[in-house]
Amino acid sequence: MTPIEPTGAARQSAQAAVRVSPVAQDVALEHRRQSERRVHLAPELVTIRDLKMHFPVTEGALFSRQVAQVRAVDGISFTIRKGETLGLVGESGCGKTTTGRCILRLERPTAGEILFDGKNLVDLDQKSMRALRQKIQVIFQDPYSSLNPRMKIGEIISEPMMVHRTEPNKAARDARVMELLRLCGLDPRFADRYPHEMSGGQRQRVGIARALSVRPEFIICDEAISALDVSIQAQIINLLEDLREQFGLTYLFIAHDLSVVRHLCHRVAVMYLGKIVELADCDELYGNPLHPYTQALLGAVPVPDPDMEKARAYRIVKGEVPSPMNPPRGCVFHPRCPLAIDSCAKNVPELRELRPGHWVACSVI
Ligand SMILES: Nc1ncnc2c1ncn2[C@@H]1O[C@H](COP(=O)(O)OP(=O)(O)O)[C@@H](O)[C@H]1O
Ligand code: SF4
Ligand SMILES: [Mg+2]
Repeated sequence: MTPIEPTGAARQSAQAAVRVSPVAQDVALEHRRQSERRVHLAPELVTIRDLKMHFPVTEGALFSRQVAQVRAVDGISFTIRKGETLGLVGESGCGKTTTGRCILRLERPTAGEILFDGKNLVDLDQKSMRALRQKIQVIFQDPYSSLNPRMKIGEIISEPMMVHRTEPNKAARDARVMELLRLCGLDPRFADRYPHEMSGGQRQRVGIARALSVRPEFIICDEAISALDVSIQAQIINLLEDLREQFGLTYLFIAHDLSVVRHLCHRVAVMYLGKIVELADCDELYGNPLHPYTQALLGAVPVPDPDMEKARAYRIVKGEVPSPMNPPRGCVFHPRCPLAIDSCAKNVPELRELRPGHWVACSVI
């Protein structure tokens, strides 16, 4: 049995949060609220409607036949407005990466729509998708494995510009590499170095520079800071936030740790076993979590003050995430839910708007 408990990284990031002065925190909060007000008025850039990604499980080498399916993503809907950062959180195996891969069209969804600026990516042919791919970029968790160790940093950052033919000649590409390195807080001389000569945080800055090189509109950050030390995490969050403001970028920020998401996101969607169970503005979700799964995830994020931490009633949820090959009937969370009643094993709860902008999939609350 594995309860959802505070991880070392979550504990450290909560401790790091206390080191920020109250004045700086107030300024940061007010800054985010202003940004939230602007984002609420912006048009939708990404619209996901009833997205499903069921991977077939086959048997037999010669005449393979489907014997089961993995319901990695099972009917999710959400929107992201221009300039917004939407957090997508949940334990490992909940379908976050698969959602990102569907938007990038690295997977062909089983069902549903993915609208980007009004165009349904699911229907697009290869040629139209290639043109759009430039506008949608991704930053991965592990910059070391996503950067080619045999290429110099300058070549790594130039590569997408060559693939998408956004900068016509080498001199223009080289100048852009210098500009991008500076923008991402790196010395332009890093262009001649190799990934193994850099620290984890520097490599993630290179990953960000590479994603930015083709002037995207939308970036999927898949656990982009999860592998970094806490102090470096804060620097990368600040960099992503500055770049979003400067270039009007839109982010889908995927993470398994709710404490990380809070500093960056306007809204947060909580995912469990292929479904969205709660979606709300960041302050609302943290201040008034309604779904028992969200409460459990938040219960696992330690509060900086030891007295508060002791006084807080943890609602620790026991057990593992069940296999998406054989998800529980009714509410998929019912085998682990402390509030479950008999009907939870039969009825699938709809995502309902219980407070303005606050959506919850639970039929009991
Ligand atoms: N290509 C695939 N074939 C079969 N199952 C897959 C494939 N990709 C992911 N899965 C399964 O889908 C589920 C969701 O995975 P993933 O999207 O990576 O979750 P997360 O990013 O939230 O950890 C997992 O059970 C995973 O094993
Ligand atoms: S519907 Fe039932 S099992 Fe599901 S979250 Fe609500 S109380 Fe828990
Ligand atoms: Mg993942």
